[in-house]
Amino acid sequence: ALMEKGNYRHFMEKEIHDQPEGCQRTIAAYVDMVAGATTFEGVDLAGVERIQVVGCGTAYLAGLVGKYLIEPLADLPVDVDVASEFRYRQPALRENTLTIAISQSGETADTLAALRYCKDKGLQTAVVVNAQGSTMAREADVVWPIYCGPEIGVASTKAFTAQVSVLTALAVAAARARGRIDAAEEKRLVGVLVEAPRLIAESINLEEAVQGIAHEVSKARDVLYLGRGPMYPLALEGALKLKEISYIHAEGYAAGELKHGPIALVDEETPIVILAPYDSYFEKSASNMSEVMARGGQVVFITDPEGERHAPAGAKVVVTAPRCDPLIAPLVMSAPIQLLAYQVAVQKGADVDQPRNLAKSVTVE
Ligand code: G6P
Repeated sequence: ALMEKGNYRHFMEKEIHDQPEGCQRTIAAYVDMVAGATTFEGVDLAGVERIQVVGCGTAYLAGLVGKYLIEPLADLPVDVDVASEFRYRQPALRENTLTIAISQSGETADTLAALRYCKDKGLQTAVVVNAQGSTMAREADVVWPIYCGPEIGVASTKAFTAQVSVLTALAVAAARARGRIDAAEEKRLVGVLVEAPRLIAESINLEEAVQGIAHEVSKARDVLYLGRGPMYPLALEGALKLKEISYIHAEGYAAGELKHGPIALVDEETPIVILAPYDSYFEKSASNMSEVMARGGQVVFITDPEGERHAPAGAKVVVTAPRCDPLIAPLVMSAPIQLLAYQVAVQKGADVDQPRNLAKSVTVE
């Protein structure tokens, strides 16, 4: 039954809708709701001095979101590497570094090689994995599963938000273990995290709002995705998702880099997706929005109700996700970019679940 599409046209659509449940089950595994505490087993987080994340594709981008959550909250340095680069670039590793491999399948060749590389160097290794019987799950010292159920669509959706769920809980756990937050703050943040599945569900309801622009975007030659802070890795993920399944050239950029290159691409034909909840980065993102609009760019502004009120006028479309604590914004803002990619691909008649040239799991280098 798990392998069936039910009433959905594609596995990807079903898996987008599976996310509230997948995140809820995953979060429940890493928090004790009664105590209001995180429960990470297998690693002494107080003794960890550095985290090295490795992964490929969407799993790598989940790691990048993790960096933006863990570093400020836990004051713990996090390096994130594409596994295929990491394994060959002779990284300068130090003791008391925890390696975290992130992989839906647990079989991706480069990620597995990177995991083995760190193990050989004597580092402690953990894997955030969906397939619990996989090679990585067997070989890592510690296994931190995600519980979103099997993912069939080649373009990852529910595995991404489940991976981000684990890393969000880890950020809270590390902050607590390192004495950066007290028990009351941990309890508050656990409460915030537990609310995420409901808000993700609300954000999936934006399907119709997104539908309104899918046709327009499907005619574009290039699409830019911009974000700051944790919305930067999400911009990368939005661009990856779109190019994977719709074959439209898309690029994710840190919004502050706009002036250093991508603004040259902006004309009347270019949709620019800006991810900007009303957070400490908002004013900066809003001014980037004005800059691209001044050059004719068609802005798809993905924000929250407060951001909608403060946004400069002139966006082509405003997609208003629910307001949430910044801790869970990456989770809540994921659905709109997944839905956009999905609907654009459907508009183009592309094979959403089996995009050309891509494989669900890349077990050769
Ligand atoms: C392939 C898939 C991607 C996935 C990546 C990493 O490229 O098409 O969706 O993100 O592999 O896969 P993993 O199983 O290691 O998460």
